[in-house]
Amino acid sequence: MKRLQDRVTLVTGSSSGIGAAVAESMAAEGAKVVVNYARSSKGAEAVVEKIKAFGGDAIAVQADVSQEDQVKNMFQKVIDTYGTIDVLVNNAGLQKDANLVDMTLEQWNKVIDVNLTGQFLCAREAAKEFIRRGVTPEKSCAAGVIICMSSVHEVIPWAGHCNYAASKGGVMLFMQSIAQELAAYKIRINSIAPGAIKTPINKEAWETPEAEAELLKLIPYNRVGVPEDIGKAAVWLASDEAEYVHGTTIFVDGGMTLYPGFATGG
Ligand SMILES: NC(=O)c1ccc[n+]([C@@H]2O[C@H](COP(=O)([O-])OP(=O)(O)OC[C@H]3O[C@@H](n4cnc5c(N)ncnc54)[C@H](OP(=O)(O)O)[C@@H]3O)[C@@H](O)[C@H]2O)c1
Repeated sequence: MKRLQDRVTLVTGSSSGIGAAVAESMAAEGAKVVVNYARSSKGAEAVVEKIKAFGGDAIAVQADVSQEDQVKNMFQKVIDTYGTIDVLVNNAGLQKDANLVDMTLEQWNKVIDVNLTGQFLCAREAAKEFIRRGVTPEKSCAAGVIICMSSVHEVIPWAGHCNYAASKGGVMLFMQSIAQELAAYKIRINSIAPGAIKTPINKEAWETPEAEAELLKLIPYNRVGVPEDIGKAAVWLASDEAEYVHGTTIFVDGGMTLYPGFATGG
């Protein structure tokens, strides 16, 4: 029996980067995976094909997670296709970087809408279905699992990215609050906080050797992360091996939150 056998798993923003790796890792453990995307249908289809190629089960569903009607339609599609949902990975996210004095309201709103409101809209729909259905003992001892993709920037301030840091700080207290609220239903909710992971979102930070060397100064483990590092953590967190892990953030960051600037001084 694989660790996520037959668990219906929606991974938002899984046409690329971390979400794609999480979708593939979960499918490899037996999950039926819904690959959500906003614009990149080709990327989403490629992930679905990769999963099917190793005998997994997956479909692609388009929806902008910041739009309430689209999120509701997506959940309806998941339930129409697979009958229910067992795991939600709230992963979709983006950056619109600017210094405070140059940041437009549009840049601010876009990041908050996708990174924070999107997590609220999807968690709400998932929780309704988890509560309606309850525990399915042959699948899991949880009535449902939600994993929120946060960031080390839920705790590390980030000049030039105040909209992003505010969205992830918001995700932290959102996750903890709903974890408190839904524990009695046996719904488990946690966050993963990645450090620097090689994906398109942060390409300029690692695509040249000079940029990567600069980035490594922030990573005690001396390796930039890859999406599969997050996939492995997500599989474990969704599985019953993590049954008693609830309302917390797992940092997968090579030690970035150890304040490496203090390693030789301070
Ligand atoms: N990479 C890192 O170092 C890092 C570190 C910490 C946290 N994270 C977090 O990890 C998550 C994934 O980031 P990534 O690095 O994998 O970035 P990425 O490669 O740019 O992927 C972002 C994904 O989000 C989707 N997306 C964007 N807007 C969306 C919307 N409105 N509705 C639905 N999907 C949407 C994109 O789909 P489309 O292309 O179809 O729009 C894409 O699949 C984000 O929440 C990010 O904040 C990343």
